[in-house]
Amino acid sequence: MTDADTWTRKDLISIEELSRDEIDVIHSLATQFKQTLGRSQKKLPTLRGKTIINLFIEPSTRTRIAFEIAAKRLGADVTLVEQKASSLVKGESLRDTAQVIQALNADMIILRHAAAGSPHYLARILDIPVVNAGDGAHEHPTQALLDTFTMREKLGSLEGRKVTILGDILFSRVARSNLWALKKLGAEVTLAGPATLLPEEFASFGATVAHDLKSALSDADVVMLLRIQHERQSSSHFPSLSEYKALFGLDAERAAWLKPDALIMHPGPINRGVEIDSSIADGPQSVILEQVTNGIVTRMAVLYLCMSAAARGKGLSNG
Ligand code: CP
Repeated sequence: MTDADTWTRKDLISIEELSRDEIDVIHSLATQFKQTLGRSQKKLPTLRGKTIINLFIEPSTRTRIAFEIAAKRLGADVTLVEQKASSLVKGESLRDTAQVIQALNADMIILRHAAAGSPHYLARILDIPVVNAGDGAHEHPTQALLDTFTMREKLGSLEGRKVTILGDILFSRVARSNLWALKKLGAEVTLAGPATLLPEEFASFGATVAHDLKSALSDADVVMLLRIQHERQSSSHFPSLSEYKALFGLDAERAAWLKPDALIMHPGPINRGVEIDSSIADGPQSVILEQVTNGIVTRMAVLYLCMSAAARGKGLSNG
């Protein structure tokens, strides 16, 4: 059994590498942190004196801000490094940038990068912890942790629960991380979307690849919508956004197929009027903003655990 006191990972790179026990530890700690959110004094002294670098080489709103708030709630100092204002634009490599950050006595790097595998690479060459905030189309582990935390809050156990993920599966790191997390937590995962964005090989990871959208939606306890990841597509995978909306968008007509208590989720950013209509995104079944809020406490748990493992000096790098 793993618990917070025996956590050994100084890096969080992927959900694939985590055990069910480890996901449970993160969620249990996040629950404890959530109880502190309502206090007037929200700040805990746990990471006082630590310096965390948010190294974001791809745009982000909620992940970057949630990590920053999480770190500050734990008492750490946070510095944001973005590509456009760093020496990356002068040709410095990611490796050199990360080594400079470590030499500046930082205690942790949180990395978002377009290259799949980049957090794993940094974790191998650095002594300080590295947390993956999204690497290309590979993984977005803290997104899946906050998504499954939100589902467990609402539904209790996910054992046997049916989760349908609808959208651009092919290019989605959120789909990959959630598939790993949901399978480890005992849920049944169905993937749906345009055939060109729905690789059949996902079936080998334990998902059902749906060809009938109506049954994929009507059976689900949770529907997670994904936007089209234009930034990762070198060519178009469907004729137009209006065609995507017509065939796959969650509008009032398709939402009527859902169970009345099915949860509607989206990792954001949402493209209103494409994968989801405003009436659904803002409707009573939507927990989209609760996902955002839960991003703080799940990331507090991750920062605390990785930093604790590093401090104990027995962190198992993912390298
Ligand atoms: N879900 C997510 O990663 O959103 P951001 O790109 O705004 O961080």
